[in-house]
Amino acid sequence: MKIAVPAEVDLGEPRVAATPDTVKRLSALGATFAVQSGAGLNSGITDADYEAMGATIVPTGADAVAGADVVLKVRRPTESELSAYPRGALVLAIMDPYGNDAALKAMADAGISAFSMELMPRITRAQVMDVLSSQANLAGYRAVIDAAEQFGRALPMMMTAAGTVPAARCFVMGAGVAGLQAIATARRLGAVVTATDVRPAAKEQVESLGAKFIAVEDEEFKQAETAAGYAKPMSAEYQAKQQALVAEHIKKQDLVITTALIPGRAAPRLVTAAMVSSMKPGSVIVDLAVERGGNVEGSQAGYITNVNGVKIVGYLNVPGRIAASASQLYAKNLFAFLETMIDKGSKALAVKWDDELVKATLLTRDGAVVHPSFAPKVEGAVQ
Ligand code: NAI
Repeated sequence: MKIAVPAEVDLGEPRVAATPDTVKRLSALGATFAVQSGAGLNSGITDADYEAMGATIVPTGADAVAGADVVLKVRRPTESELSAYPRGALVLAIMDPYGNDAALKAMADAGISAFSMELMPRITRAQVMDVLSSQANLAGYRAVIDAAEQFGRALPMMMTAAGTVPAARCFVMGAGVAGLQAIATARRLGAVVTATDVRPAAKEQVESLGAKFIAVEDEEFKQAETAAGYAKPMSAEYQAKQQALVAEHIKKQDLVITTALIPGRAAPRLVTAAMVSSMKPGSVIVDLAVERGGNVEGSQAGYITNVNGVKIVGYLNVPGRIAASASQLYAKNLFAFLETMIDKGSKALAVKWDDELVKATLLTRDGAVVHPSFAPKVEGAVQ
């Protein structure tokens, strides 16, 4: 069983899909590793660290994947990468499948079995494989650090001989995995924290972290959580009420962290240009949803925008801004999933194609897009 770890080709991606720890664990299960030289460097892992765990270091990505049974990646392979992948290889990555039909077809045409880690069901057995949680948690932490860096004032209240610095007010919008970590981090740094969400379950979680919950708690709010634990898209009426509440609150905030997402859709717009203008100069907004269209009007992917002294931070790949920790957790997510595909007795790959985790994440196999959410619809077929 040969496992390949190529370096990420996207220059904006400092994470790596395996660590010395996961190389060691998978080697004990019968794997041999080919790691591209330098693959771990941006996450603080040297070639020698991988070699010490028995991996072979090879000069190029194509060398790494030659003859591989499994390829571990952070991002979906590009067409040029795919040209070197052996047909039939299992490829595990954050595939970003929504709206990327051509890329899914390219993976199908390359004959790989592509697994999209972000489609992992959120059930107890799969918690250790949940890349959305492991990466969102770190992004939530980093968002507060980034906000603090851009903010020209202190976060905690400071009483000094020269005067008192007031505590910063921080408002977290969207209290899922990233938002809850942002709340905890802002509290640890001494800010006065409030938070909002449309899911009723979020209220207790926000309050248990010592923050105040702010939301329109009407009948629609009570029904806003799907069976899978995600938010539903809210009606125009609810959004109008939510905006009115937020507009009053946001004026008084120093830091705003937005994290609101709805799976498979554009991010909901929560902060309008008028709300941004109502904030004090020197305030900072971090839009963690910027890659999905943004929660904040005027946020720009990859940039810090300055609107009359209010900074809107739109950093891309925020988990990558804390790459060593993100790689450590991501690699462990991959290990936990791959381990379920290895027969411990024969130390060989034995994918259970009817396992619910495999079925939920498998995008392509044997030349076709096989995932029910992404497979091309047959014309005239009964849905
Ligand atoms: P997410 O990344 O899809 O969205 C982030 C947050 O934005 C969510 O809390 C969502 O309710 C909120 N949101 C959406 N629209 C909004 C709006 N218009 N206004 C304000 N907030 C809005 O969600 P995430 O972080 O992936 O978590 C979703 C749920 O899954 C949570 O209940 C979380 O606790 C749960 N979960 C369960 C796990 C498990 O294994 N059982 C693991 C991880 C999360």
